[in-house]
Amino acid sequence: MELDEVIIARRSCRYYLPNEVEEDKINLILKAGMFAPVACGRYENILLYVLKGEKLKSLVKAHSFSSKIYGAPLVIMVLHKENNVELRNEDAGAIIQNMCLKATDLGLGSVFNYSIAQEIKNNPQTIDYLKILNKYDVVAGVAIGYKSSEKTKNIKHEIKVIY
Ligand SMILES: Cc1cc2nc3c(=O)[nH]c(=O)nc-3n(C[C@H](O)[C@H](O)[C@H](O)COP(=O)(O)O)c2cc1C
Repeated sequence: MELDEVIIARRSCRYYLPNEVEEDKINLILKAGMFAPVACGRYENILLYVLKGEKLKSLVKAHSFSSKIYGAPLVIMVLHKENNVELRNEDAGAIIQNMCLKATDLGLGSVFNYSIAQEIKNNPQTIDYLKILNKYDVVAGVAIGYKSSEKTKNIKHEIKVIY
């Protein structure tokens, strides 16, 4: 796809098929995330946590996360080291947007997902289950998968501009 087409085609998908995303596609999405700009180039402070297969299924089952991720078979969480609080949201935003654009380019649906990140970070049991080290904080996530519907919210993509 041309860049402009990808940008316009990337809309939040909230309807997924259960089909797993292939490993090569996941790797391309992760690579796109890693090429995002992050503050001061401090990539070493960030961790990408891939949740899929049985791990994601048991998490969804135990904590009723399904509605938050709309049944998507893949979630990638962005974690940041605790000692670097400043600009972590911006870093996660850039990384997730790159991953969403790559997912779109590969014909997959995606949705920026803050609510699952919130669920995970507010739930000590989940943190234990995922073996997330103390020094990392869950910042945000993205749910990805094959779409079961092209339906999107009727959002107007207009932002006020002044010159
Ligand atoms: C920081 C951030 C957090 C978001 N969190 C959620 C979320 O938890 N659940 C959800 O369904 N959509 C979430 N979204 C998606 C937005 O609702 C969506 O991008 C926006 O309404 C524009 O629609 P579009 O993505 O279809 O263009 C989030 C988006 C951003 C940027």
